[in-house]
Amino acid sequence: MKQQPPVRVMFVCLGNICRSPMAEAIFAKLVQDAGLQEQFVIASSGTGSWHTGERPHPGTQAVLQRNSVPLREDKVAHRLSGDELDSYDYIVAMDSDNVHSIYGLAPTPPTALYRLLDFAPHSDTRDVPDPYYTGGFDHVYGLVEAGARGLLEHIRNERGL
Ligand code: 4NP
Repeated sequence: MKQQPPVRVMFVCLGNICRSPMAEAIFAKLVQDAGLQEQFVIASSGTGSWHTGERPHPGTQAVLQRNSVPLREDKVAHRLSGDELDSYDYIVAMDSDNVHSIYGLAPTPPTALYRLLDFAPHSDTRDVPDPYYTGGFDHVYGLVEAGARGLLEHIRNERGL
């Protein structure tokens, strides 16, 4: 069987210290557990640059640890660029503000832009709340995990993986 190029997934939030690094780590663990790590390139970024170069928020680090989800040792906050939008197959935003900011970065509207909770049909919200302001890291973890599971299922169906 011909090997397909890896599927490239970029998770996006505002600061890239709370929600999108959490989504990146959870999704990477689901991919690893499914034995599909060679088939994916997984990253995260923020639409703002205030925290560029910083490690994920202590609340994100702690909730990942509590749930036995490894965090990449070299993960630091990164600002999304317009060029990157073209080089990823799935751009997955945490909320509708992120979606609007991404449209502002893109020379042409990105075709593969989603909100994570589009893939969590049982969720009563489509926007992942920002724990930077609310401190609700455990609640956010549950939402992000549900979205990440649904996203992986969607990609596996779409790509025949
Ligand atoms: P995130 O949370 O977008 O989930 O990483 C935020 C982090 C920092 C700020 C806002 C949201 N901030 O205003 O600095």
